[in-house]
Amino acid sequence: MLTGTAGMAVSGLAWQASGQSPPSDAGGKRSLEPVMAKVSLTVNGKPVELEVDTRTTLLDAIREHLHLTGTKKGCDQGQCGACTVLAGGRRINSCLTLAVMHEGNKITTIEGLGTPEKMHPLQQAFVKCDGYQCGYCTPGQICSAVAMLDEIKAGIPSHVTTDLNAAPVFSLAEMKERMSGNICRCGAYSNIAEAITGVAEAKP
Ligand code: FES
Ligand code: FES
Repeated sequence: MLTGTAGMAVSGLAWQASGQSPPSDAGGKRSLEPVMAKVSLTVNGKPVELEVDTRTTLLDAIREHLHLTGTKKGCDQGQCGACTVLAGGRRINSCLTLAVMHEGNKITTIEGLGTPEKMHPLQQAFVKCDGYQCGYCTPGQICSAVAMLDEIKAGIPSHVTTDLNAAPVFSLAEMKERMSGNICRCGAYSNIAEAITGVAEAKP
């Protein structure tokens, strides 16, 4: 069976050859027309309502509809972590999820973690430790690190946690494993690690 683009091309040719129109949806529109839907979100504490093509990713809704461009598009395929945001406090790759799947959700982007005047402790640590070069991966790194430290506090084990009966403890190995989905093309890893470690080990 043909799948993907090849399958669609053959199916289009088949419709042309048959002289008939492709199937319509219930409203009589061609099925190739975008289907729009409303979605309500709370983004960085503010309620927002959007009307989007149902194929719009959360990343594109954040950047193109809400103009919050701190969240970056790197690979757009779930492989680099540049688009990491928090959904209900948990980190997700916003390029891999549709905006309409987040009806009613609380989304936090880098802009919602802190401001230049009142930075989040991890934002301060990245500045202090020079945890970036070009800065493109930095919003994703920081959002991911915020959730990663919460995951350790919540007792969620990782692939390198050795004792599953004990609460996980922050370590370099745990951090490397848990942050492995956030790629830094500039290779600023040692400074990123220093920044995150400083916050993880800071006395409350
Ligand atoms: Fe989403 Fe790379 S842009 S993981
Ligand atoms: Fe450039 Fe990480 S600082 S990609």
